[in-house]
Amino acid sequence: MTHYTGLIERYRNRLPVGPDTPIISLGEGNTPLIELRNLPKKLGKDVRILVKFEGLNPTGSFKDRGMTMAVTKAVEAGSKAIICASTGNTSAAAAAYASRAGIASFVLIPEGKIALGKLSQAMMHGSVVIQINGNFDDGMRLVREVAESAPVTIVNSVNPFRLQGQKTASFEIIEELGDAPDYHALPVGNAGNITAHWIGYSESVCQNTRSCVHCEGKCPYHKEIAATKRPKMLGYQAAGSAPFSRLAFVDDPETVATAIRIGHPVSWKQAWQVKEESGGWFDECTDSEILKVQKLLAQSEGIFCEPASATSLAGVLMDLERGKIEEGSTIVCTLTGHGLKDPDTAIAQSTRPVTVDATRSSIEKIILENLAK
Ligand code: F0G
Repeated sequence: MTHYTGLIERYRNRLPVGPDTPIISLGEGNTPLIELRNLPKKLGKDVRILVKFEGLNPTGSFKDRGMTMAVTKAVEAGSKAIICASTGNTSAAAAAYASRAGIASFVLIPEGKIALGKLSQAMMHGSVVIQINGNFDDGMRLVREVAESAPVTIVNSVNPFRLQGQKTASFEIIEELGDAPDYHALPVGNAGNITAHWIGYSESVCQNTRSCVHCEGKCPYHKEIAATKRPKMLGYQAAGSAPFSRLAFVDDPETVATAIRIGHPVSWKQAWQVKEESGGWFDECTDSEILKVQKLLAQSEGIFCEPASATSLAGVLMDLERGKIEEGSTIVCTLTGHGLKDPDTAIAQSTRPVTVDATRSSIEKIILENLAK
């Protein structure tokens, strides 16, 4: 077994890096693809649902895949500072990778609207945290304006290297399944991740001909992870911030899934193209459906993701119920971030701990009471 040193080293020949590129990595990627065992049975559905648990990346979200590339390329280009707007996870990843690289980071976040874990990460890594009286879309606009003159590199997904890093999740899935799944569902906010996954899947379809863009039919490594097809891409949003399913930008997005509280997605055009090319669709789930599925997943499978992440599974369960996704399918749902990112929302919807005297009998009483339920 060799020491895993992150996704750039792993997929070096499929990423825009050279032999002298100084790689900034925290060992991101290589996340587990976990097959749900109990939920499909519980729902009486004959489907294979696997979750790609991106919450197990170094800073607890899929953003690390993009950030290792964006920061690596920023450092290679001589940049001394990075900047991003964020609903929380991008800021956590930017802060961590900037520390690793020894450069400065500036993060713009919507005041009072980012989950506690994410805020603590940006602060702890020493990022300059700028709270704005506005939402993510305001922050995104400001970052783009400021970067025109200030000596800072944008590391939001408008930075093309972000998508290059994030496309590697598709490579990992194909390697594990031996092919692409029938469906791949993601929560959609700024729409960078769904776009990145599609790039990854598209680059993996082996043409088995000399015209294959990667290997010209020669590269043994490409054959090893080639897919015979691409999945239908399903993008799910929270009902209060669902520009894709509403077919219009949303000026005042609102949802408990603060990670995807975005009304003006930057990758709007690209994401529509993904939907069209893949034969997939966009839809939305209410906050209560999202929270219900977050809890269901935690309590029936032992997997704790953040609210936004549960949107992918909530959408899939909804569309299985409606018959839009047929039984017999293999479905991958990306769980974008770890549940520990947002402890407040988790505690608010869970059973309170009981407080008792520190005696054997009081503990035994509780055990018996609960087992009898
Ligand atoms: N899930 C989580 C946990 C996220 O943090 C995000 C985006 C998404 C899904 C949506 O991904 O934007 O590529 O469509 N978070 C960004 C941030 C906006 O600032 O952390 P997307």
